[in-house]
Amino acid sequence: MKPWKEEKNAPATGQLLCQLADLADSEVFELTLAPESKYPFRLFIHKQEGRYRCFMNRCPHFGIPLNMQPRQLFSTDKQQFICSTHYARFNFHDGFCTEGPCEGSSLEVIPIETRNAAIYVAAAAGSGH
Ligand code: FES
Repeated sequence: MKPWKEEKNAPATGQLLCQLADLADSEVFELTLAPESKYPFRLFIHKQEGRYRCFMNRCPHFGIPLNMQPRQLFSTDKQQFICSTHYARFNFHDGFCTEGPCEGSSLEVIPIETRNAAIYVAAAAGSGH
């Protein structure tokens, strides 16, 4: 599977994703870019204990979104993300799959930054620029 940056309709560096007010703690904000296109790009931002993390919403197992219903991204114990198709489980902090058919792989992390009470796509970490 391609890195998120190379997928069609991936967000550009500096692109506005949401307002901080859109997200309550322990909740997710889902966004679909180019929803009418053949290749919509789905992502979600999770807020946990005041920290925001953004992931591409694509299961590394089959390449489909983790959820079929809005915001149904959490395991029943609310400790991990879960794919509702074959139940792979992923860490909140790094998207690593700890259990399921894609165990050992990870959700794609989209780097973000917060400014002006909003969340934007940041330049890729480790790019050296
Ligand atoms: S598609 Fe997600 S676990 Fe199979």
